[in-house]
Amino acid sequence: MEPRLICIDKRRISGRMGGVMSLRLAVLGSGSGSNCQSIFNAIADGRLDAEVVIVLSDHEDAYILERARQHGVRAEYMDCGGFKNKFPLEVQEALAKKLQELDIDLICLAGFMRLVKAPLLEAFPRRILNIHPALLPAFPGVEAWTQALNAGAKQAGCTVHYVDAGMDTGEILMQAYVPVLPDDTPQTLHARIQVQEHILYPAAILSAISRL
Ligand code: GRF
Repeated sequence: MEPRLICIDKRRISGRMGGVMSLRLAVLGSGSGSNCQSIFNAIADGRLDAEVVIVLSDHEDAYILERARQHGVRAEYMDCGGFKNKFPLEVQEALAKKLQELDIDLICLAGFMRLVKAPLLEAFPRRILNIHPALLPAFPGVEAWTQALNAGAKQAGCTVHYVDAGMDTGEILMQAYVPVLPDDTPQTLHARIQVQEHILYPAAILSAISRL
């Protein structure tokens, strides 16, 4: 049975209602969004006391946007001007402004394939997380599970870290280990890593919230 995690750092709102409000998350992803789904699931079953306010993708047809719509969450495409990997600074500036207007507390990168730079980092200091499918600092970059296999690693895993201007270099928040099996292929290893990712990311978000 998964541990029940309780948020101990809800933001107190002294406004009209005088109530207590959950932390407000934005999720950015480029692909299927299974990690975003794990965040939705953790919120739905009470393991994570937070609200996903918006999901954004740099791919108009990314399934992560469909998952957001299915959960009634605002889903938006970010046009990166036809660049394959570049995250244009003006797009980051506009995004930072939008997320500040939405009163976002924490940005969660979930399979987002562009590097975040100053406009977002300065607007959300220590408030941007990423999940990476390796035991950082080993194997940063793409297809980390294949890198681990090719290097003959006995242990693989996943890491949630704070985002800085480098590629998968920010301060590590939490990690989960996955043994590499003798008959592993890149696909089987990545699949087992993803099972751990889906447990780790909600738990790490909760930990980050408690440190805000
Ligand atoms: C995950 O393996 C994550 O660690 C990496 O990209 C993949 C995204 O998967 N950064 P999904 O879109 O969340 O299914």
